Amino acid sequence: MNLCPSASAYVVAHCRGPVYGNGRMDSPVLQVSSLTKAFGEVRSVDGISFEVGKGEILGLLGANGAGKTTAINMTLGIVTPTDGSVRVFGEDLHTNRISILRRMNFCSTYTQLPGNLRVWQNLKVFGKVYRVPNLANRIDEVLEMLEISHLKNRISGELSAGEGTRLNLCKALLNRPELLLLDEPTASLDPDIADKVRKVVSRIREEEGTSILYTSHNMRDVEEVCDRIVFMHKGKILFTGTADETLDHFKEDSLESVFIRVARSGDIESQKGEVAP
Ligand SMILES: Nc1ncnc2c1ncn2[C@@H]1O[C@H](COP(=O)(O)OP(=O)(O)OP(=O)(O)O)[C@@H](O)[C@H]1O
Ligand SMILES: [Mg+2]
Repeated sequence: MNLCPSASAYVVAHCRGPVYGNGRMDSPVLQVSSLTKAFGEVRSVDGISFEVGKGEILGLLGANGAGKTTAINMTLGIVTPTDGSVRVFGEDLHTNRISILRRMNFCSTYTQLPGNLRVWQNLKVFGKVYRVPNLANRIDEVLEMLEISHLKNRISGELSAGEGTRLNLCKALLNRPELLLLDEPTASLDPDIADKVRKVVSRIREEEGTSILYTSHNMRDVEEVCDRIVFMHKGKILFTGTADETLDHFKEDSLESVFIRVARSGDIESQKGEVAP
Protein backbone atom coordinates (compact mmCIF):
# COMPACT_ATOMS: atom_id res chain seq x y z
CA MET A 1 0.00 0.00 0.00
CA ASN A 2 1.51 3.33 -1.03
CA LEU A 3 0.70 6.29 1.13
CA CYS A 4 1.32 9.76 -0.30
CA PRO A 5 4.74 11.21 0.76
CA SER A 6 3.28 13.69 3.24
CA ALA A 7 1.14 10.93 4.73
CA SER A 8 4.19 8.72 5.12
CA ALA A 9 6.04 11.56 6.82
CA TYR A 10 3.16 12.00 9.21
CA VAL A 11 3.04 8.30 9.99
CA VAL A 12 6.77 8.17 10.71
CA ALA A 13 6.42 11.12 13.07
CA HIS A 14 3.34 9.62 14.67
CA CYS A 15 4.86 6.18 15.18
CA ARG A 16 7.72 7.70 17.14
CA GLY A 17 5.28 8.94 19.75
CA PRO A 18 2.98 11.90 20.32
CA VAL A 19 4.85 14.27 18.00
CA TYR A 20 2.64 16.09 15.54
CA GLY A 21 3.21 18.44 12.61
CA ASN A 22 6.62 20.13 12.70
CA GLY A 23 8.01 17.95 15.46
CA ARG A 24 6.56 19.88 18.40
CA MET A 25 4.86 18.02 21.23
CA ASP A 26 1.34 19.27 20.54
CA SER A 27 -1.77 17.92 22.17
CA PRO A 28 -4.18 16.26 19.73
CA VAL A 29 -6.42 18.62 17.77
CA LEU A 30 -9.36 16.27 18.33
CA GLN A 31 -9.60 13.87 21.24
CA VAL A 32 -12.64 11.60 21.50
CA SER A 33 -12.90 9.57 24.73
CA SER A 34 -15.35 6.75 25.49
CA LEU A 35 -17.92 8.47 23.29
CA THR A 36 -21.34 6.83 23.33
CA LYS A 37 -24.73 7.62 21.82
CA ALA A 38 -27.79 5.54 22.52
CA PHE A 39 -31.03 6.10 20.63
CA GLY A 40 -33.42 4.17 22.88
CA GLU A 41 -32.13 0.62 23.13
CA VAL A 42 -29.70 1.01 20.22
CA ARG A 43 -26.14 2.12 20.98
CA SER A 44 -25.25 3.71 17.64
CA VAL A 45 -21.84 4.72 19.00
CA ASP A 46 -20.56 2.55 21.79
CA GLY A 47 -17.58 3.82 23.81
CA ILE A 48 -15.22 4.87 21.03
CA SER A 49 -11.91 6.66 21.64
CA PHE A 50 -9.52 8.12 19.07
CA GLU A 51 -7.35 11.17 18.41
CA VAL A 52 -6.55 13.32 15.39
CA GLY A 53 -3.15 15.00 15.51
CA LYS A 54 -2.14 18.34 13.99
CA GLY A 55 -1.99 17.95 10.22
CA GLU A 56 -3.25 14.37 10.34
CA ILE A 57 -5.96 12.92 8.08
CA LEU A 58 -7.80 10.19 9.96
CA GLY A 59 -10.21 7.95 8.02
CA LEU A 60 -13.35 6.78 9.79
CA LEU A 61 -14.47 3.58 8.05
CA GLY A 62 -17.33 1.20 8.51
CA ALA A 63 -20.41 -0.27 6.86
CA ASN A 64 -23.75 1.53 6.60
CA GLY A 65 -25.04 2.11 10.10
CA ALA A 66 -21.65 1.60 11.79
CA GLY A 67 -22.00 4.94 13.60
CA LYS A 68 -19.67 7.22 11.61
CA THR A 69 -22.08 10.11 11.01
CA THR A 70 -23.36 9.93 14.58
CA ALA A 71 -19.75 10.19 15.80
CA ILE A 72 -19.15 13.19 13.52
CA ASN A 73 -22.37 14.85 14.66
CA MET A 74 -21.25 14.51 18.28
CA THR A 75 -17.89 16.03 17.30
CA LEU A 76 -19.82 19.01 15.93
CA GLY A 77 -22.04 19.24 18.99
CA ILE A 78 -25.16 18.61 16.84
CA VAL A 79 -25.90 15.36 18.69
CA THR A 80 -25.48 15.24 22.48
CA PRO A 81 -23.47 12.23 23.69
CA THR A 82 -25.05 9.78 26.10
CA ASP A 83 -21.60 9.36 27.63
CA GLY A 84 -17.95 10.25 27.02
CA SER A 85 -16.28 13.47 25.93
CA VAL A 86 -15.03 15.40 22.91
CA ARG A 87 -12.06 17.75 23.30
CA VAL A 88 -11.08 20.02 20.41
CA PHE A 89 -7.94 22.21 20.43
CA GLY A 90 -7.42 21.00 23.98
CA GLU A 91 -10.78 22.33 25.20
CA ASP A 92 -14.04 20.62 26.08
CA LEU A 93 -16.47 20.93 23.16
CA HIS A 94 -19.53 21.06 25.38
CA THR A 95 -18.36 24.11 27.37
CA ASN A 96 -16.52 25.97 24.57
CA ARG A 97 -18.65 25.11 21.55
CA ILE A 98 -18.92 28.53 19.85
CA SER A 99 -15.22 29.43 20.01
CA ILE A 100 -14.26 25.91 18.89
CA LEU A 101 -16.73 25.80 15.98
CA ARG A 102 -15.32 29.06 14.59
CA ARG A 103 -12.02 27.22 14.03
CA MET A 104 -13.64 24.11 12.51
CA ASN A 105 -15.77 23.33 9.50
CA PHE A 106 -17.77 20.49 8.10
CA CYS A 107 -18.99 19.05 4.81
CA SER A 108 -21.41 16.22 4.13
CA THR A 109 -22.66 15.08 0.77
CA TYR A 110 -26.05 14.61 2.42
CA THR A 111 -26.63 18.15 3.67
CA GLN A 112 -27.40 21.03 1.35
CA LEU A 113 -26.96 24.77 1.62
CA PRO A 114 -30.12 26.94 1.30
CA GLY A 115 -31.40 26.21 -2.22
CA ASN A 116 -32.98 29.60 -2.96
CA LEU A 117 -29.68 31.53 -2.69
CA ARG A 118 -27.15 31.93 -5.46
CA VAL A 119 -23.80 30.19 -4.98
CA TRP A 120 -21.97 33.41 -4.12
CA GLN A 121 -24.76 34.50 -1.75
CA ASN A 122 -24.52 31.22 0.18
CA LEU A 123 -20.76 31.60 0.50
CA LYS A 124 -21.16 35.23 1.56
CA VAL A 125 -23.64 34.33 4.32
CA PHE A 126 -21.43 31.55 5.69
CA GLY A 127 -18.32 33.69 5.29
CA LYS A 128 -19.90 36.36 7.46
CA VAL A 129 -20.94 33.80 10.07
CA TYR A 130 -17.31 32.65 10.23
CA ARG A 131 -16.03 36.28 10.07
CA VAL A 132 -13.79 35.47 7.11
CA PRO A 133 -11.44 38.39 6.29
CA ASN A 134 -11.25 39.59 2.64
CA LEU A 135 -14.37 37.55 2.02
CA ALA A 136 -14.88 38.42 -1.67
CA ASN A 137 -11.35 37.24 -2.50
CA ARG A 138 -11.67 34.12 -0.39
CA ILE A 139 -14.95 33.21 -2.12
CA ASP A 140 -13.24 33.44 -5.52
CA GLU A 141 -10.31 31.42 -4.17
CA VAL A 142 -12.39 28.48 -2.89
CA LEU A 143 -14.57 28.43 -6.01
CA GLU A 144 -11.40 28.20 -8.08
CA MET A 145 -9.96 25.50 -5.80
CA LEU A 146 -13.02 23.30 -6.39
CA GLU A 147 -13.18 24.38 -10.07
CA ILE A 148 -16.72 25.79 -9.91
CA SER A 149 -16.05 29.50 -10.55
CA HIS A 150 -18.42 29.23 -13.53
CA LEU A 151 -21.29 28.39 -11.12
CA LYS A 152 -20.88 31.51 -8.98
CA ASN A 153 -24.17 33.11 -10.11
CA ARG A 154 -26.24 29.94 -10.27
CA ILE A 155 -29.15 29.24 -7.90
CA SER A 156 -27.79 26.69 -5.38
CA GLY A 157 -30.93 24.51 -5.47
CA GLU A 158 -30.54 24.06 -9.23
CA LEU A 159 -27.06 22.55 -9.01
CA SER A 160 -26.47 18.87 -9.76
CA ALA A 161 -25.62 16.60 -6.79
CA GLY A 162 -21.90 16.72 -7.55
CA GLU A 163 -21.92 20.50 -8.07
CA GLY A 164 -23.78 20.89 -4.75
CA THR A 165 -21.16 18.78 -2.98
CA ARG A 166 -18.40 20.97 -4.38
CA LEU A 167 -20.27 24.08 -3.19
CA ASN A 168 -20.50 22.45 0.24
CA LEU A 169 -16.76 21.85 0.18
CA CYS A 170 -16.20 25.52 -0.72
CA LYS A 171 -18.25 26.46 2.33
CA ALA A 172 -16.18 24.08 4.46
CA LEU A 173 -12.88 25.65 3.35
CA LEU A 174 -13.98 29.31 3.60
CA ASN A 175 -12.67 29.94 7.12
CA ARG A 176 -9.40 27.98 6.64
CA PRO A 177 -10.50 25.51 9.34
CA GLU A 178 -7.87 24.00 11.62
CA LEU A 179 -10.10 20.93 11.98
CA LEU A 180 -12.22 19.76 9.07
CA LEU A 181 -14.86 17.03 9.28
CA LEU A 182 -15.68 15.48 5.91
CA ASP A 183 -18.57 13.00 5.80
CA GLU A 184 -18.38 11.13 2.48
CA PRO A 185 -17.18 14.16 0.52
CA THR A 186 -16.74 12.19 -2.71
CA ALA A 187 -19.95 10.14 -2.58
CA SER A 188 -21.77 11.97 -5.38
CA LEU A 189 -18.75 12.87 -7.49
CA ASP A 190 -17.66 11.44 -10.84
CA PRO A 191 -14.21 9.79 -10.81
CA ASP A 192 -12.49 12.83 -12.30
CA ILE A 193 -13.92 15.28 -9.76
CA ALA A 194 -13.43 12.80 -6.90
CA ASP A 195 -9.75 12.68 -7.85
CA LYS A 196 -9.59 16.49 -7.82
CA VAL A 197 -11.28 16.65 -4.41
CA ARG A 198 -8.76 14.14 -2.98
CA LYS A 199 -5.97 16.36 -4.26
CA VAL A 200 -7.56 19.49 -2.73
CA VAL A 201 -7.87 17.70 0.62
CA SER A 202 -4.22 16.62 0.51
CA ARG A 203 -3.17 20.10 -0.59
CA ILE A 204 -4.87 21.99 2.24
CA ARG A 205 -3.35 19.61 4.77
CA GLU A 206 0.04 20.16 3.14
CA GLU A 207 -0.22 23.96 2.86
CA GLU A 208 -2.24 24.83 5.95
CA GLY A 209 -1.62 21.91 8.30
CA THR A 210 -5.35 21.20 8.49
CA SER A 211 -6.37 18.22 10.63
CA ILE A 212 -9.07 16.18 8.94
CA LEU A 213 -11.54 13.48 9.97
CA TYR A 214 -12.68 11.78 6.78
CA THR A 215 -15.39 9.20 6.20
CA SER A 216 -15.77 7.38 2.91
CA HIS A 217 -16.93 4.11 1.43
CA ASN A 218 -14.42 4.59 -1.35
CA MET A 219 -11.26 2.69 -0.43
CA ARG A 220 -9.32 4.61 -3.06
CA ASP A 221 -10.05 7.81 -1.13
CA VAL A 222 -8.83 6.22 2.04
CA GLU A 223 -5.64 4.80 0.57
CA GLU A 224 -4.79 8.08 -1.11
CA VAL A 225 -5.52 10.64 1.57
CA CYS A 226 -5.67 9.03 5.03
CA ASP A 227 -2.66 8.63 7.35
CA ARG A 228 -4.47 6.29 9.71
CA ILE A 229 -7.78 4.50 9.77
CA VAL A 230 -10.33 3.89 12.51
CA PHE A 231 -12.40 0.85 11.56
CA MET A 232 -15.88 0.95 13.13
CA HIS A 233 -18.42 -1.85 13.33
CA LYS A 234 -21.79 -1.65 15.05
CA GLY A 235 -20.81 1.42 17.05
CA LYS A 236 -17.48 0.08 18.29
CA ILE A 237 -13.93 0.47 17.07
CA LEU A 238 -12.51 -2.77 15.71
CA PHE A 239 -9.06 -1.49 14.83
CA THR A 240 -7.01 1.70 14.56
CA GLY A 241 -3.81 1.93 12.52
CA THR A 242 -2.26 2.75 9.18
CA ALA A 243 -3.57 1.07 6.03
CA ASP A 244 -0.67 -1.40 6.13
CA GLU A 245 -1.26 -2.17 9.80
CA THR A 246 -4.94 -2.73 9.05
CA LEU A 247 -4.12 -5.22 6.26
CA ASP A 248 -1.65 -7.03 8.55
CA HIS A 249 -4.14 -7.14 11.37
CA PHE A 250 -6.96 -8.64 9.29
CA LYS A 251 -4.59 -10.70 7.11
CA GLU A 252 -6.16 -9.36 3.92
CA ASP A 253 -4.51 -7.86 0.86
CA SER A 254 -6.84 -4.92 0.28
CA LEU A 255 -8.90 -2.55 2.40
CA GLU A 256 -11.90 -3.50 0.30
CA SER A 257 -11.53 -7.13 1.42
CA VAL A 258 -11.23 -6.03 5.05
CA PHE A 259 -14.31 -3.87 4.67
CA ILE A 260 -16.41 -6.63 3.11
CA ARG A 261 -15.30 -9.23 5.63
CA VAL A 262 -16.12 -7.01 8.58
CA ALA A 263 -19.44 -5.87 7.11
CA ARG A 264 -20.58 -9.45 6.37
CA SER A 265 -19.39 -11.07 9.57
CA GLY A 266 -22.05 -9.43 11.75
CA ASP A 267 -19.99 -10.69 14.65
CA ILE A 268 -17.56 -8.24 16.17
CA GLU A 269 -16.03 -10.82 18.52
CA SER A 270 -14.93 -13.10 15.70
CA GLN A 271 -13.06 -10.19 14.12
CA LYS A 272 -11.39 -9.33 17.40
CA GLY A 273 -10.19 -12.93 17.59
CA GLU A 274 -8.04 -12.32 14.52
CA VAL A 275 -5.84 -9.78 16.26
CA ALA A 276 -2.20 -10.22 15.29
CA PRO A 277 0.27 -10.38 18.20
N1 LIG B 1 -31.67 10.26 15.28
C1 LIG B 1 -31.61 8.93 15.30
N2 LIG B 1 -32.56 8.20 15.90
C2 LIG B 1 -32.51 6.86 15.95
N3 LIG B 1 -31.50 6.13 15.41
C3 LIG B 1 -30.52 6.79 14.80
C4 LIG B 1 -30.50 8.22 14.70
N4 LIG B 1 -29.40 8.60 14.04
C5 LIG B 1 -28.73 7.47 13.73
N5 LIG B 1 -29.40 6.39 14.18
C6 LIG B 1 -29.00 5.00 14.02
O1 LIG B 1 -27.65 4.88 14.44
C7 LIG B 1 -26.96 3.94 13.62
C8 LIG B 1 -25.72 4.59 13.06
O2 LIG B 1 -26.09 5.56 12.10
P1 LIG B 1 -25.02 6.48 11.37
O3 LIG B 1 -25.77 7.42 10.51
O4 LIG B 1 -24.13 7.05 12.38
O5 LIG B 1 -24.23 5.40 10.51
P2 LIG B 1 -23.10 5.61 9.42
O6 LIG B 1 -21.95 4.78 9.85
O7 LIG B 1 -22.88 7.04 9.17
O8 LIG B 1 -23.77 4.89 8.16
P3 LIG B 1 -23.71 5.29 6.59
O9 LIG B 1 -22.46 4.66 6.06
O10 LIG B 1 -24.95 4.62 6.05
O11 LIG B 1 -23.74 6.77 6.44
C9 LIG B 1 -27.95 3.47 12.57
O12 LIG B 1 -28.48 2.23 12.95
C10 LIG B 1 -29.01 4.54 12.58
O13 LIG B 1 -30.28 4.02 12.22
MG1 LIG C 1 -23.11 8.29 7.51
